[in-house]
Amino acid sequence: MSNESLANLLKEERRFAPPAELAAGANVTAAAYAQASEDRLGFWAEQARRLSWAVEPTETLDWSNPPFAKWFADGRLNVAYNCVDRHVEAGLGDRVAIHFEGEPGDGRSITYAQLKDEVSRAANALLELGVTKGDRVAIYLPMIPEAVVAMLACARIGATHSVVFGGFSADAVASRIQDARARLVITADGGYRRGKPSALKPAIDEALTKVDGVEHVLVVRRTGQDTPFTEGRDVWWHEITERQSAEHTPQPHEAEHPLFILYTSGTTGKPKGILHTSGGYLTQAAYTHHAVFDLKPATDVYWCTADIGWVTGHSYIVYGPLANGATQVIYEGTPDTPHQGRFWEIVQKYGVTILYTAPTAIRTFMKWGDDIPAKFDLSSLRVLGSVGEPINPEAWVWYREHIGAGRAPIVDTWWQTETGAIMISPLPGVTETKPGSAQRALPGIAATVVDDEAREVPNGSGGYLVLTEPWPSMLRTIWGDDQRYIDTYWSRFQGRYFAGDGAKKDEDGDIWLLGRVDDVMLVSGHNISTTEVESALVGHPAVAESAVVGATDATTGQAIVAFVILRGTATETPELVEELRAHVGRTLGPIAKPKQIKVVGELPKTRSGKIMRRLLRDIAEGREIGDTTTLADSTVMSLIQSQLPPTG
Ligand code: WT7
Repeated sequence: MSNESLANLLKEERRFAPPAELAAGANVTAAAYAQASEDRLGFWAEQARRLSWAVEPTETLDWSNPPFAKWFADGRLNVAYNCVDRHVEAGLGDRVAIHFEGEPGDGRSITYAQLKDEVSRAANALLELGVTKGDRVAIYLPMIPEAVVAMLACARIGATHSVVFGGFSADAVASRIQDARARLVITADGGYRRGKPSALKPAIDEALTKVDGVEHVLVVRRTGQDTPFTEGRDVWWHEITERQSAEHTPQPHEAEHPLFILYTSGTTGKPKGILHTSGGYLTQAAYTHHAVFDLKPATDVYWCTADIGWVTGHSYIVYGPLANGATQVIYEGTPDTPHQGRFWEIVQKYGVTILYTAPTAIRTFMKWGDDIPAKFDLSSLRVLGSVGEPINPEAWVWYREHIGAGRAPIVDTWWQTETGAIMISPLPGVTETKPGSAQRALPGIAATVVDDEAREVPNGSGGYLVLTEPWPSMLRTIWGDDQRYIDTYWSRFQGRYFAGDGAKKDEDGDIWLLGRVDDVMLVSGHNISTTEVESALVGHPAVAESAVVGATDATTGQAIVAFVILRGTATETPELVEELRAHVGRTLGPIAKPKQIKVVGELPKTRSGKIMRRLLRDIAEGREIGDTTTLADSTVMSLIQSQLPPTG
């Protein structure tokens, strides 16, 4: 990394100490780091005891055949029992597990006792449909409680679920059903999206014309819209579950029994089926949820705004929070339906105390204006989380000021579908936070930054993020492709897990994530990260959002091209564009000044909110636009093109 860009991050000197009251009562204190570094495996063995095991494990880690790990291998447990039944047995059956808020304003609150009955009925229904331990079940549902119930029902009987995000196309579903060879699909007639029912079932019908092996489709009725039904194959969820017993005795499964497959698209190639197993995964999901969010299950109201179709939904809506007996909010819809204050209305309505969301959402709220959250009572919030991409310091500070009343600590959590659970994050009662930095590997986790030759870089330098020791919730392989697992993650740096992210260590040794390695630009021999230029642009009062790409350039190798969305108050003029270039130059150094700045109304994003820089590079390099099928909004690219002056 160039020294110019490094200097910039080190200029971020704002520091925020943990609130004294939170620190005094925190679930995890600084001692955990020391304890875990003295005896890492002993530390995880202790965390595994948060769970209820039918057979207690005596082994912690088997790393005799790296990179194939086994955690707690001789233990047996039932994941659904851990997430539901044991809380009821502990006398907490009346505690609300889920406050469901539908987009149209309907909703229901489900206690742990009710959840136990629903999961048991669904498990019995799966058994009636011939699903047995080891089968794969595809789940394609909106954000409704049945999505949680379906996942837990699978876990209960030992079927491996593969949740496919409800916004994906029939083709994407088909390839995932095919790859996992799913036997059953669970879907819904539709869900509510931007004020309207949006059909889901037709995508399954279409997908099933392309793949074999699916015996039944279980259909939840959510919207009541007209739905094609294939006699003999399709079964209504409510019909089959209503006639099941609410009793189901959970059997213990091996700690390494496959819990779920979740596909990540990555930048190239066919989607990778990331495989997670049971005991280690649940241990780390539960521990990190307890430690990073400081969850007090009796009093907190937790809300993670992710979709269940992403790993964030798996680990921090379903498995972590429920294993910990949390009360949480699940919201079906979009943040601007029916108005742009919907999230804050929900926080106020349920008294949400812990909020976990993504930088892309935070920047959208900034763009909509400070006055919107200001209309609601957000005083219940005590911990704020961020995940999904690096959070720019400006967005971080806005989040803290306008959502957290300048008081709630922010935990910027770095992890991946592959890591299964949070790996690098501040601890809210311990860490003095720095806007824009995920800071430090959690207790029991070993991460560092290395250079091209795999040498650990000194503080103050940048390189590649690697994980140097196996961790309980690590992926076990890529489904059906062990070699690709080895090649993708374990071959770049011998014996270390290559995350694919650029990162820096500051003078204190704290880690700053710089985005995917593929997103680093090489300008006149200097490595400049897209994240840093984007942060600099968003640091200007006229800019709401930005995306930066490196376009091939005859003189400099790559040239920086920035796409920016202006705030409502700013208008595009040649002077403003020049001022923005100068602003980046002042913040990061002249080398980082964008060669071109293009003002646009939207940016192309995936459904999980990641900017698709590849498509912007196509524009910047004057090419035909590539594959847009994973865009959240397929019309965005033509909108962007129509807003740009024709290039000569
Ligand atoms: C990639 C993983 C983890 C759940 C959601 C995304 C980026 C994630 C952060 C963060 C900087 C982050 C990384 C990572 N990322 N969190 N706090 N700071 N970057 O899961 O789709 O598997 O993506 O998201 O680039 O590698 P995913």
